[in-house]
This record gives sequence, C-alpha cells and structure tokens, in this order.
Amino acid sequence: MTEAVLLVGGQGTRLRPLTVNTPKPMLPVAGVPFTVHQITRARDAGVRKIVLATSYRAEVFAEFIEDVDLGIEIVIATEDEPLGTGGAIRHALAHLESGPDDPVLIFNGDVLSGLDISGLVASHVETGSDVTLYLTPVEDPRAYGLVPIDGDGRVQAFLEKPSTPEEIVTDLINAGCYVFKRSVIEQIPSGRVVSVERETFPALLTSGAQVRGVVDSSYWLDLGTPLAFVQGSRDLVLGHAPSPAVLAPGAALVLDGAQIAESARIDGGSSIGRNAVIAPDAHVSGSVVFDHAVIGAGARVAGSIVGAGARIGEGCELHGVVVGDGASIGARNELRDGARVWPGIELSATSIRYSSDA
Ligand code: GTP
Repeated sequence: MTEAVLLVGGQGTRLRPLTVNTPKPMLPVAGVPFTVHQITRARDAGVRKIVLATSYRAEVFAEFIEDVDLGIEIVIATEDEPLGTGGAIRHALAHLESGPDDPVLIFNGDVLSGLDISGLVASHVETGSDVTLYLTPVEDPRAYGLVPIDGDGRVQAFLEKPSTPEEIVTDLINAGCYVFKRSVIEQIPSGRVVSVERETFPALLTSGAQVRGVVDSSYWLDLGTPLAFVQGSRDLVLGHAPSPAVLAPGAALVLDGAQIAESARIDGGSSIGRNAVIAPDAHVSGSVVFDHAVIGAGARVAGSIVGAGARIGEGCELHGVVVGDGASIGARNELRDGARVWPGIELSATSIRYSSDA
C-alpha cells in the first residue's frame, strides 16, 4: 500500500479573491473541487490512503470528506499554525502507517499533471533513493527554481530562479510531487515552519542523501494564478489534461440545474456551475462560471472566472478577469486583463454601449 500526503494548507494569495472563502484546492474545476482530480489520479495509481495536510480554512476540507466517497481512505491533519510545506509533511507523519523504508508520496495541492505516479514510485524503490522528485521541462525556466540532474538522475543542486541567461543551466523544474522514504520525513524538524524546497531538499543534498529526479514530460500546470486556473479548467473540460473525474470531455461542461438560453453560446472548454443562468445571446468562452452565477443577455465572458452567485449585467464584456463570489457587475461594463472584483462589490451600470466585438 502506498500512502500519500496532499499539501492543501496554503492561503492561495495569488488566486484572491476566489480563495477568500474557499481554499484553492476546494475551488470547483471542471465540475468538482480541484483536489478531487488529484485524489482520483492518485487512487488510480494504487494509492490507498491520503492525508490532507490542511491549515487555511481546514473546516472546508473536513465538511467535504464527510460527504464524499472517492474509493480511497482520506484523513485530515490540521496544523494550528501553517507550518510551511516541509513542516506540513512532518506534521502529517503521525497519520502514516507505513514502515521506515516505505515510499510516501507527497503532492502539492495545486498541480494538474499527467505524471506517471506509479512509475515515479517504482523508480524511487528500484534505486533505493531517499527522495525522488518529479521534474518537468519548461519552455521558459526563468520563473522557476531549477533542478539540474546528472546522467543517472542524481540531483546536483537546487537553484533559485535564474536572473541571467548563464544561470539557466537546465530546463528542469520541481513539478510539485515527490516520493520520500518515510524515515527521511522523520528527520524534518517538527513543530516549526519548514520549507521543503528551500530547507529540506538542499540540506539532504549537503548531507549526501540520495536525491534523484525523474523527468516526465506529460501535461503539467500549476493552477496558482487566475490565468492558469482558467487554463487548467479549460484543459480538463476539453480532455487535454487527464483526470478520472472528467467523464465526458467536450467543448463545454454544464452542471445540473444550469439554465442556458437557446441563443447563448458556451464553448472553448467553459464550465457552467450548478443553477447558473446564461441569458439569451450571451457568449461564454474558455471561462469558469461558478454555481448560481448569472450572465446577463448579450454579455461576453472570455478567459474569466465568475464567482458563486455573482451577477454579470447585460451587454458586459469580461476578458481575463476574476469576479468574486456574490459581486454584481452592472450592465455594459467592460473589464479586462487581470481585473479582480472583490466578493460582494457592486459596480453600477454604464450607459455607454459598444459593439459586441470590441
Ligand atoms: P500562493 O499564496 O498563491 O503562493 O499559494 P499557496 O498558498 O498554495 O502557496 P504555494 O503554491 O507555494 O504552496 C504549494 C503547496 O503547498 C500548495 O498546495 C499549498 O496549499 C501548500 N502549502 C503551502 N504552505 C502550506 C502550509 O503551511 N501548510 C500546509 N498544510 N500546506 C501548505
């Protein structure tokens, strides 16, 4: 039996205001909380028990696991104060039953990927490694910490984000999933904040531990920002990203109770939440509309996230924006490129009408 720890305790600051009420891993993506995609992928790879390492808004996870059966044992470890990624793994140890040499999988709670999970564990066990990291190549490594490896897959260094071209010594980055030998988790200091990336991994290298990387080039996306969140949801709905929780990929996903006017268009991998309303002639493309939201007549919503119960007035143009839960955007407003509207805010209608392809 392989056990796993899913790190879901972060505040998700980059996704505010969506994460004001809901922790990032519980935000709906392609019809289910994001965490369900990760849990069901882990289950299908043979993981039998998952510890949800929670801190921020832990009660949302507790309510969720009470009501759901995903065919896998799920327990919750809640930190009183956030302990960071390494501290959270150490804190979850009390819930693990495996022996000292057994592999324990660790997943960041915001990564959508096509990783061969059982292949990663098999490689870890075969090589007798202390820690094995999932590495993925990226086109532009400048935004990430880099993880160069040698020909045998041994990690040579954990490098900070490169600031000059010479510092880009590899295109491989830490993709947010690891296998630890359980006894190595025991060495992480308990009861204080520890960053696994900045403290634990470099210390293991220094101590001569066997730290290896496995390169997997399949689908990978960190859903930490609004743009990435929309893209991940789109890719799941369209079937470009793999998940056992998406049963029928297609141009759009419309959940139970949503009312879509006949003349409305929903496409580009959009998902429309339960009991949402899409009025006549509205066009929603490549967007996520949460439960009970209303999109007014003739409105255009592209590459955007519309929070639960939010109302978008008729003739509005939304491109690449986030509207918080319960916010209300009056008729004919235009919001673009990274604008964020906080929950409950009301924007009054404007009187200016512009052409629909503006
Ligand atoms: P940002 O605030 O937008 O950076 O997002 P985040 O809070 O998710 O932080 P980050 O992406 O760096 O975290 C990586 C993963 O670790 C995420 O899945 C977080 O939920 C999780 N995480 C971060 N800090 C903690 C913590 O203190 N405790 C626990 N249990 N999980 C954490």
